[in-house]
Amino acid sequence: MEIKEAKIFQDYLNGVITGSETETSKKLFKDARSFYENSDCDLSDDTVMYEVYSYSQGDPKQTGNLNWGLTVMKPVTVNQECNITRGHFHEDLNCAEIYFCLHGEGLLLFMDENDHCYAEKMKTGTVHHIDGHLAHRLVNTGDEELRVGACWPTTAGHDYARIEKNPFKVRIFKENGNIVVKERHS
Ligand SMILES: [Fe+2]
Repeated sequence: MEIKEAKIFQDYLNGVITGSETETSKKLFKDARSFYENSDCDLSDDTVMYEVYSYSQGDPKQTGNLNWGLTVMKPVTVNQECNITRGHFHEDLNCAEIYFCLHGEGLLLFMDENDHCYAEKMKTGTVHHIDGHLAHRLVNTGDEELRVGACWPTTAGHDYARIEKNPFKVRIFKENGNIVVKERHS
């Protein structure tokens, strides 16, 4: 019997996913400006807001295949608004997802199909089930990196346009060290 080395490695406590088959991307501030209520600030365009690492095997269109991923969110604010991911519904609403927090503090923000929003607190060790019918977005409310692992079906897809047309109805700010939730219905 042949015993092989694993194709990827994840440093769960302090690092990221590495290995030749790991895909990585960086979200820069210039590509994230539209996420925020007011992006007019002195952050430089090439500020890294978050990094995404992912790994998969097989045909992504094949039902049952999985993605494994990691999002590393920097502890930056934009005019006091906490760092957020773009946010999405899944294209296939039947596909759920698991998030698990590896480091930091944050919120997992949900919005249902009636625009009702709620959040789950994230800290190292929390595990979160995301129903496929809920939009979801990460929020880094802490002073350190928020690192969140994820596992989801390759057939889930990302429907970003739906959130751009109908944004989340709450925004999360950090004001004098306090987390402040503001409702937005426009
Ligand atoms: Fe997702």
